[in-house]
Amino acid sequence: MKIGVFDSGYGGLTILREMRRVLPEYDYLYLGDNARAPYGTHSFDVIYRYTLEAVRYLLAQDCALVILACNTASAKALRTIQQKDLPEINGYGKPVTGYRKRNVLGVIRPTVEAVPGITKTGHVGILGTPATVSSESYVLELEEISHQPSAISRQLVITQQACPMWVPLIEAGEQNSDGADYFVEKYLREILEKDPQIDTLVLGCTHYPLLKEKIDRFADRIRTAGADRAQTYSPIRIIAQGELVAKSLADYLARHGEYREQLSTGGTCRYLTTENAERFAQTATTFLNTPIQAESIQLGI
Ligand code: DGL
Repeated sequence: MKIGVFDSGYGGLTILREMRRVLPEYDYLYLGDNARAPYGTHSFDVIYRYTLEAVRYLLAQDCALVILACNTASAKALRTIQQKDLPEINGYGKPVTGYRKRNVLGVIRPTVEAVPGITKTGHVGILGTPATVSSESYVLELEEISHQPSAISRQLVITQQACPMWVPLIEAGEQNSDGADYFVEKYLREILEKDPQIDTLVLGCTHYPLLKEKIDRFADRIRTAGADRAQTYSPIRIIAQGELVAKSLADYLARHGEYREQLSTGGTCRYLTTENAERFAQTATTFLNTPIQAESIQLGI
């Protein structure tokens, strides 16, 4: 059986790449719902329905685990899928002959767990899609882990910023354009004006690492331009999720033999998209720095 990796589009490739680096032995099946991206401007009902269709599709393709490599889907659909749909998918715990347990995991918790150990000022910025930001998932999860006995106990000041134009720019292949410069600067300026003491910016959308070079450059520029004010500010750390999610999956598999033992170890990866396969393969090849082939499928029919 395989590990399924799902995103609304190309963003999940930033997670897949790290998972394959950390856990190269497993077989992966990537699904990008590019035809219906972006998800981040849709309502809860739509994001939940689209995500569930993708999860059911991947499970039907022999995936033992599905990673929602998408913050928007993790924020809006993961809990309902885990609480309502998975028990039914898993036959309500009744052992059926040939039955194999399935699970669906998200990307927000592994990211949140790293944050308190990284920030020095305790001022943290979350950059995400409008849906992720409005769900308050990051704020709630950070609050939740701060009560755990093992947590680094500290009070965090969280500021969120929705970046509605970043995913459409990336899906359109415009991440290196001047238009992208404009929107990267705009949202960074907004969040750093809301809280100038931020020293840690979380890329709370798996598409955003594709803008990381610009994000680094503009965050630095905005911070330096503010340095002549009376106060001096700490340098900003930008947190991308790939490595954190990959390490967390490795840890999960080490603890859960019931999934690990079901996984096949051919080291392969297949790519599925709901859009044109050639276009997907071309763009994914640039993102992954290695040639890939893709297949086109339909969801929701
Ligand atoms: N990569 C998705 C995320 O992490 C993008 C969501 C979208 O399609 O807007 O949120």
